[in-house]
Amino acid sequence: MKRTLNTTINRSKNEKNDEHYTQLADIENEVRHYRDQFRGKTVLCNCDDPRCSNFFKYFTRSFEILGLKRVIATCYKSQDVDLFTQKSCEKAVYQIYDGDANGNREVDDEEIDVKELEGDGSFDSPECLRLLDEADIVVTNPPFSRFLDFLPLLINRGKKFLILGNNLHATTKEIFPFFQSNQVWLGYYYGNMNFIVPDHYRLEGNRAWVDEKGQKWHSLGNIVWYTNLEVKKRHEPLTLFKKYDPVVNFKYFNYDAIDCNRYTDIPMDYFGEIGVPITYLCHHNPDQFELVGTALQLADMQKVKDRMGRCDGGRRFYREEGSRIVRMFDRIVIRRKDGNHAS
Ligand SMILES: C[S@@+](CC[C@H](N)C(=O)[O-])C[C@H]1O[C@@H](n2cnc3c(N)ncnc32)[C@H](O)[C@@H]1O
Repeated sequence: MKRTLNTTINRSKNEKNDEHYTQLADIENEVRHYRDQFRGKTVLCNCDDPRCSNFFKYFTRSFEILGLKRVIATCYKSQDVDLFTQKSCEKAVYQIYDGDANGNREVDDEEIDVKELEGDGSFDSPECLRLLDEADIVVTNPPFSRFLDFLPLLINRGKKFLILGNNLHATTKEIFPFFQSNQVWLGYYYGNMNFIVPDHYRLEGNRAWVDEKGQKWHSLGNIVWYTNLEVKKRHEPLTLFKKYDPVVNFKYFNYDAIDCNRYTDIPMDYFGEIGVPITYLCHHNPDQFELVGTALQLADMQKVKDRMGRCDGGRRFYREEGSRIVRMFDRIVIRRKDGNHAS
């Protein structure tokens, strides 16, 4: 999985595939779950050209409904960006909206304060960090290739956030510790999402297409919202109804935990460590289960090497199948919090 993620990140860096523009409906569909938490807040969209970002559009149009204090969007102008993007900006800019000043219930151009940035508008540049300090909540779809430093920056600056990402990022060494310490969790939506991509985008496979207007699209799977805003479902305990079955819930070859292929099948009568798919994180209740670690942290690859004479790929759990050992999909290891019982 690590290799796949790195490959995707590298491809993203090399081909500037960071340009995936989020649809208004996808933003609205998620933000509606957190409405009360936006009252009186300054929202920053810091990877967003305000002239075309649907995040900026959404928050300026919903300003009064959400009871916002201010919306700020900053536009990134990379040095080599013209080669790849369809952005028209000559300089990095930011825009500020403080609400419907003239009371006509519309977002008018004169109500938006447009300012130039000195630098390239990178989210971690000094002037963008000053805007970050002013903000209460960051809401955006950050560049895929910078996700692993984007999210930690928000946490280290004490910000609330709701940001789009791929679920593969969750088990990385940079991000998973924040899940373990309850500083980040997943929001409501999980799954496929369609993004508008620039004209230069290479259409490959059946997940990329051109619509009747000539607009290019790319659909990505395993899209999730990373957040530290309150999410009601994470306080609802999972109802466990399966019984531990040593055949179905076999022990891993290279780590002392049992496997559970679906979160709905977590056994109610097992109190040791259990390996579950990454999708479990969408249902994690921190009062019910502890996040022990990931296969990337825990798998004993020396044992695999001793058995096979080699190791293919990064750290993963293996299961025994007759005389063979078979590499598993990525796993997270959890343990019940309410169990002093022996498993
Ligand atoms: C996945 S796209 C999403 C754009 C927009 N947030 C949206 O959802 O429609 C990520 C954007 O981040 C921009 N970007 C890349 N590097 C950046 C950086 N260091 N700082 C801020 N933005 C960056 C890219 O140019 C790209 O437009």
